[in-house]
Amino acid sequence: MGIKIIGTGSYLPERILTNRDLEKMVDTSDEWIRTRTGISERRISADNEPSSELALKASLKAIEMAKLKPEDLDLIVVATITQDRITPSTACILQNKLGAFNAACFDLQAACTGFLYSLEIVNALMSTNPKYKHALIIGVEKLSMITDWKDRNTCVLFGDGAGAVILEKRTGKHDIGGILASRLASNGSFNELIKVPAGGSEIPTSAETIKKRMHFLSMEGQEVFKLAVNEMAKACQDVLATAKVDISEVRWLIPHQANLRIIKAVGNKLEIPEEKVYINVHKYGNTSAASVVIALDEIVRSGKLDRGDYVLLTAFGAGITWGANLLRW
Ligand code: ACO
Repeated sequence: MGIKIIGTGSYLPERILTNRDLEKMVDTSDEWIRTRTGISERRISADNEPSSELALKASLKAIEMAKLKPEDLDLIVVATITQDRITPSTACILQNKLGAFNAACFDLQAACTGFLYSLEIVNALMSTNPKYKHALIIGVEKLSMITDWKDRNTCVLFGDGAGAVILEKRTGKHDIGGILASRLASNGSFNELIKVPAGGSEIPTSAETIKKRMHFLSMEGQEVFKLAVNEMAKACQDVLATAKVDISEVRWLIPHQANLRIIKAVGNKLEIPEEKVYINVHKYGNTSAASVVIALDEIVRSGKLDRGDYVLLTAFGAGITWGANLLRW
């Protein structure tokens, strides 16, 4: 048996915000942003494009590639920290837009690691419950909504976008592969490092929280940087050891696209050749839960993956959460 990815899709909003545009908004420079982060531009969604709309556009492409209809879906999981509304889930809103009324739907919150968490959870559900034959997983963010456009420490980093995959349960004797191994991890003692302080049950929205700009994302970048490199590399080594696959056999390492220096440091620690490390952070910045799945879709659609290839995904984000999945295509 194998749980295979049979369709991928992504959607990036049309509007491009360049480093030069940001120079006019905060005290920064194209040179600082490119050398410290590797980012040149990012996408910003329109006012009438909430996360569910970005998710819809990515999902339709994945469903089309999988040659399915929305009613074939048994599960829809949306990984996001920028849901349309506090409740109901964005997955339910998306279900309605798709007309996928045979699916059970829920959101998953693990920040930038959300897509990796979703893959492992859906893999487990599909492996144990015969009712689940087709699942749709989306990583989507409209981070522009929670970005403080007056804070140069963070506003240069983030962008909007969505990626989607369709998983299918295959039961034939040649249907090996799929998700071979996963390592999911969290350490809540670092929960203050990346946060949106207000708007939840701890500090409800008030005129004061709005005045104090407490509804925007704040981050202690340097601390996050150090933890990210070490934990992503260790998680990758962990899943490779579990699946008894050597790093030299991996066709693609797809790391979370937060910062080019982090991506390169993880690649160096794993001793994987640079050309096998997928990079698109220059185009989109950090799209949190969407980043790894957008990259996966770009690789698939450019024909750079063949049956039997090993693909290693790794991510790190607020929580803190981190992890890795090893896939066999
Ligand atoms: N333009 C110009 N100068 C800036 C800017 C900017 N946009 N931002 C910060 N600076 C300044 C700082 O004020 C500081 O100045 P000072 O030395 O006078 O105090 C100087 O540049 C250096 O700042 P650092 O924070 O030390 O810069 P660093 O090299 O660490 O880069 C960055 C910052 C890019 C945020 C980096 O730490 C990083 O990428 N961290 C990890 C982020 C990450 O991986 N996040 C993942 C999770 S996100 C999520 O879950 C949603």
